[in-house]
Amino acid sequence: MPFRHTGPIRTLTTFLSKVFVSLILLGLSELPASAQGPDPHQIYERKCAGCHEAHAGDFVHDNVTTGDGKVIGRRSGRPVAAFLARGHGKLAPPERAVLIEHLEQIARSGALFHDKCLVCHDRAVVFARSRLIGRQGKLVGRYSGRDVRAFLSNHGRVTAEEADTLTAILAYQLRGSQF
Ligand code: HEC
Ligand code: HEC
Repeated sequence: MPFRHTGPIRTLTTFLSKVFVSLILLGLSELPASAQGPDPHQIYERKCAGCHEAHAGDFVHDNVTTGDGKVIGRRSGRPVAAFLARGHGKLAPPERAVLIEHLEQIARSGALFHDKCLVCHDRAVVFARSRLIGRQGKLVGRYSGRDVRAFLSNHGRVTAEEADTLTAILAYQLRGSQF
């Protein structure tokens, strides 16, 4: 997996993913919906799904690879951002930025969820939106009230670092549902 790191980088990545979760959950509880910008899921569905895979997760899985943290078209080897900036998909610049961030996030964590969780759960976006919720800065089970990060210490056979990443992606997927 291209995003696996070791040593100080790994510590940094873990730290950043924690910050990321906190920021997202803060966003969930404290920002009005209008301040959160366009929903990447809607952008993908409206502007890309007509010609490509129905879901962004499948699009990334089938067509995209990563390098230097950027998403790159698998066939052409061109950065997706540059491809879209030239007019493919007809996105306005703010939509483009949101969608690229979304595709990068999926690329980073999708493989992990796909390999370790999908066998028992729905796709991450469906799972997050149907089962999870942000409460007081934490991602928890909507009905169980379980703290997801704590729960993953003994669930799904993941390392601590992977549990951080998965908590981040689930929180991220949930955020899109607030619009
Ligand atoms: C009108 C149909 C259409 C729409 C809408 C569309 N695409 Fe495409 N896309 C294609 C076709 C056909 C190709 C393959 C031909 C090519 O590479 O130019 C392609 C290629 C791509 C590639 C290049 C893959 C590679 O290997 O380099 C990317 C990335 C991509 N599309 C992303 C998107 C995104 C993101 C959206 C939504 C913003 C989108 N496309 C909207 C038809 C479409
Ligand atoms: C072997 C099947 C299986 C695998 C693999 C699995 N889960 Fe689960 N998971 C379950 C079951 C069954 C439950 C419901 C348990 C319960 O509610 O007591 C559950 C519950 C959960 C919950 C709690 C939901 C809530 O409402 O409290 C979370 C979060 C979760 N899983 C995440 C994951 C993640 C992330 C992965 C991948 C690392 C994963 N699971 C892998 C079967 C699985």
